[in-house]
Amino acid sequence: MAEPEDDGKVWDFKVWDISIRLFHWSLAILIFLLWQTGENGSIETHRQLGLAVLGLLVYRIYWGFFGPKTARFSDFPIRPGQILRYIPKLFKQPYEARIGHNPLASLSIIAILGTLCFQVGTGLFATDTDGLYSGYFGHLVSFDMGRQLAELHEMSFNVISALVILHLCAIAYYALALATDLVTAMVTGTRDVDAETAATTPQATTTLPRIGGGLLLGGLAVWAVLHFGA
Ligand code: HEM
Ligand code: HEM
Repeated sequence: MAEPEDDGKVWDFKVWDISIRLFHWSLAILIFLLWQTGENGSIETHRQLGLAVLGLLVYRIYWGFFGPKTARFSDFPIRPGQILRYIPKLFKQPYEARIGHNPLASLSIIAILGTLCFQVGTGLFATDTDGLYSGYFGHLVSFDMGRQLAELHEMSFNVISALVILHLCAIAYYALALATDLVTAMVTGTRDVDAETAATTPQATTTLPRIGGGLLLGGLAVWAVLHFGA
């Protein structure tokens, strides 16, 4: 266990492993590019970027079961009692950030990941207005069905945009109202935590074979779409 420093805190305690951070920042960049390419009609590039999101999602879902504790879905405190007990903490200082996602962040992450799965699913079968461009499996559905899925694809992007705006507002709220910086830890992976918490919580370390398992599954999903799709 890491020893506490003079201020009673354990410095640089690992809260987010490297793959969560790479997942997060690549996802943020990809969504921006997908928005741009979707809107300006660069559909070939858009389809390829969408496939990268598919790979990332498969990786993150795998990581939710086989990653370190803070990445696991079983560590998301989303039982009703946990949510209700958490809400008053949002209005009290000093706020002590949990090691791992807090209840509201967990709910928002489930919503973002779920909507993104829907986004990729509809994109794979969507067709544009003149039927020239479609997702990799667009040929498997009728033109009308492809158009309906494109409508859903557009609508669910609005949901994603709203969730991302909420996400950014929440992060700003923690920074401004609760004097809590969550962003640095998502960049560096570490945070200073009190000695007692550090003694009872494992750091978010991982191993290359575990990462390899996720890369293999994510890669397999992308390969399957390229191999079986058009
Ligand atoms: C493999 C994954 C994906 C495929 C194959 C795909 C495919 C497509 C296709 C064919 C269109 C054109 C539809 C039309 O012209 O009406 C489209 C539009 C669009 N896509 Fe995707 N997409 C994928 C993933 C995503 C993701 C992950 C996002 C964002 C998170 C996204 C955002 C958009 C947006 C904003 C549009 C423009 C909608 C509009 O205003 O008409 N797509 N996509
Ligand atoms: C399209 C843009 C974005 C999307 C889709 C997104 C999505 C996500 C997701 C899915 C997570 C959970 C990470 C995981 O466990 O896998 C997360 C966490 C986080 N994101 Fe974002 N994010 C976006 C942009 C940003 C930006 C621009 C910032 C910084 C200003 C940011 C800061 C954070 C932080 C600090 C966390 C950790 C929250 C916590 O401590 O529980 N995100 N984000």
